[in-house]
Amino acid sequence: MTKIGVLGVGSLAEYLIRGAQGSPYDFIVSPRGVERAKTLAARYGVKIAASNQAVVDQTDMVLVCLPAAEGLEILRGLVFRQGQSVLSTMAGAGLGPLQAACAPAVGFCSMMPGFANAFQAGPSLLFPPDPAWQRFLSHLGPVHEFDAQEPFETAAVFGAMSGASMFLMRQLADWYSAHGLPPKTAQRLVAETFRGNAEVLLQASEPLEDIVRGVTTPGGITEALVSTLRAQNALGAWEDAMDKVLARMSPDRV
Ligand SMILES: NC(=O)c1ccc[n+]([C@@H]2O[C@H](COP(=O)([O-])OP(=O)(O)OC[C@H]3O[C@@H](n4cnc5c(N)ncnc54)[C@H](OP(=O)(O)O)[C@@H]3O)[C@@H](O)[C@H]2O)c1
Repeated sequence: MTKIGVLGVGSLAEYLIRGAQGSPYDFIVSPRGVERAKTLAARYGVKIAASNQAVVDQTDMVLVCLPAAEGLEILRGLVFRQGQSVLSTMAGAGLGPLQAACAPAVGFCSMMPGFANAFQAGPSLLFPPDPAWQRFLSHLGPVHEFDAQEPFETAAVFGAMSGASMFLMRQLADWYSAHGLPPKTAQRLVAETFRGNAEVLLQASEPLEDIVRGVTTPGGITEALVSTLRAQNALGAWEDAMDKVLARMSPDRV
């Protein structure tokens, strides 16, 4: 078993620990948020350390799931040692500031959807590449490694896209429920539709343009729905919103 120290035991930490069940990793977690830590101890056998520093002292691999706003400051208050490696999941914490905060440990950045990783179905990003963190993340879903900052930053916007896609699916499920479908049927119909179409993107060899053309009967209902959405900029608004997230996560880019 490889031991991983976890700083910040909130939603994400719980998802990742849950997804890693059955993998060759065990976890020692920070004590704050003690109720959740106790639940994770009872459910998954994680150990609860006496302090953040005790997490760092007892592990070579440290997974940082702290709030993005204060996380780097919290890391700056801890003492790391040579040979340790630190993976940050914090949205917008750049590699340079992370490495400065955890030196002489080596820093790596990641992003993932979160809940999907609990089902080992969420993609993770890893920058820069690292075999040890790649091995760990591969238990939680597919891993995309990056050796340059800009493409990693661009890809990391998917953390927000992933969360927002839940809102989109809820909006659609609510529409079906409001029009008489049982909520469970509505939820399944939306999820199965998105999953099926995701399989098309993963498995079909045709270019995306051809896929879109193939599913859009001229004068048909898809065309009607899309033209109503376009008239309200509902598709283009996604691009504007993602530009905003990129600007927030990577202010140096704008
Ligand atoms: N949620 C996701 O699905 C997701 C996905 C990808 C990335 N992320 C990233 O993961 C990070 C955590 O997000 P989250 O959604 O898990 O947030 P969260 O549920 O608020 O968890 C953060 C945890 O850190 C704890 N914390 C705060 N200050 C601390 C300190 N000084 N020492 C130790 N623990 C401390 C908080 O405790 P208190 O509650 O007591 O303040 C809380 O339990 C964020 O940086 C976010 O960008 C999240």
